[in-house]
Amino acid sequence: MDITGYAYIVGGGSGIGKDTALAFAKEGAAGVAISDINLDAANEAMKEAKAVATNPNFRELSLHVDVTNEDSVDVGTRQVVDLFGRIDYCLISAGIGIPGAKCTSEVDAGLFKRIMDVNVTGSFLVTKSVGNVMKSQTPTPTSIVKKERAVTRGTIVHMGSSASYTAGPGRCPYVVSKHAVLGLSRVAAIDLVKYGVRVNCLCPGWVETPLIEDKKVGLVNAVKNLAPLGRLALTEETADAVLYLCSPRSSYVNGCGLVMDGGTTVLEPTKASIGYANHDFPIAGLRRVQRNITTFDKEGKSVFLSADGGDHQHVMGDKQAIQMIMYSTRETPVNLNGDVDVEKAAEKRPPVFYPNGTVLRMIDFAPDVEGPMHRVMALVYGVILEGIFELTLDSGEKKILREGDIIVQRAAAHKWKNITGNGTMPGRMLYMLLDIEDYYFNENKVEGYMGALAKEHENEGRVPSK
Ligand SMILES: NC(=O)c1ccc[n+]([C@@H]2O[C@H](COP(=O)([O-])OP(=O)(O)OC[C@H]3O[C@@H](n4cnc5c(N)ncnc54)[C@H](O)[C@@H]3O)[C@@H](O)[C@H]2O)c1
Repeated sequence: MDITGYAYIVGGGSGIGKDTALAFAKEGAAGVAISDINLDAANEAMKEAKAVATNPNFRELSLHVDVTNEDSVDVGTRQVVDLFGRIDYCLISAGIGIPGAKCTSEVDAGLFKRIMDVNVTGSFLVTKSVGNVMKSQTPTPTSIVKKERAVTRGTIVHMGSSASYTAGPGRCPYVVSKHAVLGLSRVAAIDLVKYGVRVNCLCPGWVETPLIEDKKVGLVNAVKNLAPLGRLALTEETADAVLYLCSPRSSYVNGCGLVMDGGTTVLEPTKASIGYANHDFPIAGLRRVQRNITTFDKEGKSVFLSADGGDHQHVMGDKQAIQMIMYSTRETPVNLNGDVDVEKAAEKRPPVFYPNGTVLRMIDFAPDVEGPMHRVMALVYGVILEGIFELTLDSGEKKILREGDIIVQRAAAHKWKNITGNGTMPGRMLYMLLDIEDYYFNENKVEGYMGALAKEHENEGRVPSK
């Protein structure tokens, strides 16, 4: 790729930065400098880079830099220039993620400032410091023949994210910081181009690095379902993209936010829901819940009998939802003697509801799923456990229900739509269904109907038509 100059990787002790440093060394760079707030990690990464370097005169430097501190950034840049004489390629990969999702109104202001400090101010300080070096250094000749293409004094690559373009719920500080990094990259690209310095922003979706380690299990499942490529990106793939943006092959690419997310952000949310529920309960992206059932010990004291995730898991629709039965009783009052009720509950999947009994049903909905209009002739207590749902009644009345909101449906004809994250995220509801007496409207008996849901309950014994 015509990588012959000196690379400076900021935040190169781990993840994307580290593997990009290795790729520069492999591709023939004259030298690689790796800085990081974690000097040990930078030293270790440097050892690996040295081991794969292919340039016979390969030069190396690892150093401590805290990108939030201007002096530290400037001292680091000077050290690199003192050794290499110039900086041809700079990747600013120092960055931090957020510990967990939180509604914007609940985000800790200290955390918000810290993310801005590292991701935004850090990227700015390095751009300023390295930009000043690049704009005054001699242009490098490259092997590309056309002289208009060959003139470059240096290239800078920022680390944006698909979150530079999209906004996921609960990710306020990260999304804001990555929008800002893209803005920084664009304005720096316009400012520095007159000096022969190109600036671009790489915007990956989820990449397999330590940054996402704590979220990895849920993420792998969610990304498998959401990303058309069906997996997380590899750091060697982000490294390839950085090398392209740094090489003269991308000589006409400037101020670009290069989205590399396997096609996720261009996917329509409705398409994302089809086939989403092709895994075990819970649906990808939702918490695994624990069902705890009690019994009595020999002294009549209450003890836990079992703990599991529920029974009779059943994928619904076009793999767009999964139901799990948390408990059911075939009669009221319930006979607890000898734990017969526990056996009965485990024995078979209950119908929509049991005449004279109870059914506690949990349903995980894929993103953007809208169920059909239907009426169950039962009293239904519904609780939103995760996400945001739109409930529409047959009169046309609508309500938005959020986590913790409760609906008491008295044989209502209704339909649900999962609108969590504007149709990009899964949601979860819990329903308790209780039998009712026949109900008459204007002396006509009101009947239940299940619409497209009927086929979901075909093999469950009695479907209610009282
Ligand atoms: N991993 C992903 O899924 C993903 C996706 C899109 C964008 N990104 C972005 O890519 C960049 C690199 O992420 P990663 O996944 O390789 O993370 P990582 O945690 O593996 O590496 C980040 C590095 O930055 C260093 N760092 C943190 N604070 C620093 C500071 N103040 N000064 C200097 N160095 C500091 C860390 O020590 C670490 O070595 C980040 O900006 C991240 O937001 C990551």
